[in-house]
Amino acid sequence: MTIRSMMLAAGGLLIATLMTGACPAESMAAEGKTVLTKPQMEKFSKVSDIVLDKCMACHSRDYDLPFYAKIPGIKSIIEKDFRDGLRAMDLNAELVDAARDKPVSEATLAKMEWVILNETMPPAKFTAVHWGSRVSNEDEKVILDWVKETRAAHYATGLASPAHANEPLQPLPDKLPVDAAKAALGEKLFSDKRLSGDNTLSCASCHAYDKAGTDNSRFSEGIRGQFGDINAPTAFNAVFNVKQFWNGRAADLQEQAGGPPMNPIEMGSKDWHEIIAKLANDAEFTAAFKAVFGDGWTGDNITNAIAEYEKTLITPNSRFDKWLKGDDSAITKAEQEGYERFKQYRCSSCHVGKSVGGQSFEYMDLKKDYFADRGSPLGSDEGLKGFTGKGEDLHRFKVPNLRNVELTAPYMHDGTVATLDEAVRIMGVYLSGMDIPQGDRDLIVGFLRTLTGEWNGKRVGGTPVEK
Ligand code: HEC
Ligand code: HEC
Ligand code: HEC
Repeated sequence: MTIRSMMLAAGGLLIATLMTGACPAESMAAEGKTVLTKPQMEKFSKVSDIVLDKCMACHSRDYDLPFYAKIPGIKSIIEKDFRDGLRAMDLNAELVDAARDKPVSEATLAKMEWVILNETMPPAKFTAVHWGSRVSNEDEKVILDWVKETRAAHYATGLASPAHANEPLQPLPDKLPVDAAKAALGEKLFSDKRLSGDNTLSCASCHAYDKAGTDNSRFSEGIRGQFGDINAPTAFNAVFNVKQFWNGRAADLQEQAGGPPMNPIEMGSKDWHEIIAKLANDAEFTAAFKAVFGDGWTGDNITNAIAEYEKTLITPNSRFDKWLKGDDSAITKAEQEGYERFKQYRCSSCHVGKSVGGQSFEYMDLKKDYFADRGSPLGSDEGLKGFTGKGEDLHRFKVPNLRNVELTAPYMHDGTVATLDEAVRIMGVYLSGMDIPQGDRDLIVGFLRTLTGEWNGKRVGGTPVEK
């Protein structure tokens, strides 16, 4: 069954329910509330007409439901579709709000590309009743060209071979520009247990070099044997995340590094004074630190140094990177098949870019209620809502990056998934909305294993999961 025919089958119910197509998308757009300023329009002028006419009605918070949504019976079905459309992609937030100062995200580009290539949008159940208008071949070309141009202008690393230049996944750079003196101090601080209240824990306790930047535990053991309720993501390649933490509550690495030291169940220090009093006793380290940071020990300087060091925690040269760069034999035929499946099952709509994730926040219950099926609620299940307080952010999580993923088990924010095979199965059901047959799961897992890279010229340390 092709993806399109799967969608058509799913649409049957609504086609049967709606009697006539009463309200063309054009009129919705005409009377719609979304007002774009000229500079905003110019940011995506090539696609703005198509998107406004044919997509925005279902992918923006600013549109009223059409009048027939008020007819009993139909209302609940239509409301669900609007809710689902918005949860899958908030185009308004991306194209209007974000267009002010930043390019459309890599995830949105990949999502747009996927629905156009697979011809699934607007949903057939709507185009069939003339309410949503079809995307013409010409529209398709315009959107795909726009995706390609935006990628090339804002996200390409210039490292991929011409054949792979427009892939949703891109090679990691070998290194980033780094202030070496600051990074050297940051390296020491990353493994310095004096940052914790009882001198037992450093950053590296939970983000271990020999465990691909994780602790390979469901939940990390913090100070005095305490446990949180969220899995520790890898510190490797975190520099590429749009925000830090599963719920994005830190804007960048420096802000992030200020979190654990004073977190009562992680490193449990009282405040920076307590930490600095210990560090200041170390004359040699203090002199070295002062040589770089003129004003010496401060919380800001400490987190600045750590964040600088984390720019060196990147893992280039995986077999997949070599393939992207043009070495056709770097991955096997089966692994290439696996990458094709990874794209086909929509994985690359979210696990996108250099670090294969970290670019967007998505609903863990997008296609099916993961939390009801799993049971045993956790505080951390709130996701982004825990930070923004907004109901609409419930169960939204930053997409984890999949670099070195064979070494970073267990998986998910709740750390409940022990194998890659199960992670891929779960993603299919709850995020992609497709049951992935065993054969395809095997191929995808094979591909995921090609994402293990190198750090400091050596293969990233850790133990690969078996299945
Ligand atoms: C009439 C409502 C409607 C219109 C118009 C519409 N969509 Fe959607 N869209 C949805 C719904 C509902 C979903 C959620 C998936 C589903 O239920 O099929 C969705 C999902 C998506 C997704 C996420 C992928 C997925 O399958 O979940 C993307 C990307 C997308 N739409 C892009 C577009 C684009 C681009 C257009 C315009 C060419 C468009 N949509 C027009 C309702 C709409
Ligand atoms: C007790 C274990 C523990 C210690 C110690 C610890 N972390 Fe973490 N780290 C975690 C957990 C758990 C999370 C996820 C928390 C969340 O998202 O709410 C995390 C998240 C992160 C992230 C975000 C990654 C991402 O993908 O969002 C970075 C970066 C990070 N830690 C770096 C550090 C640094 C730097 C230190 C030392 C200053 C440190 N950690 C100390 C457990 C720990
Ligand atoms: C709509 C966005 C989306 C799609 C599509 C998607 N993922 Fe995910 N993926 C996520 C999010 C969000 C998480 C974290 C969920 C959580 O922990 O609650 C995740 C987690 C994972 C993890 C666990 C990583 C870790 O370190 O914990 C793996 C592996 C994974 N996805 C692979 C895939 C594969 C393979 C596919 C395609 C079959 C896929 N994903 C499709 C968003 C997506």
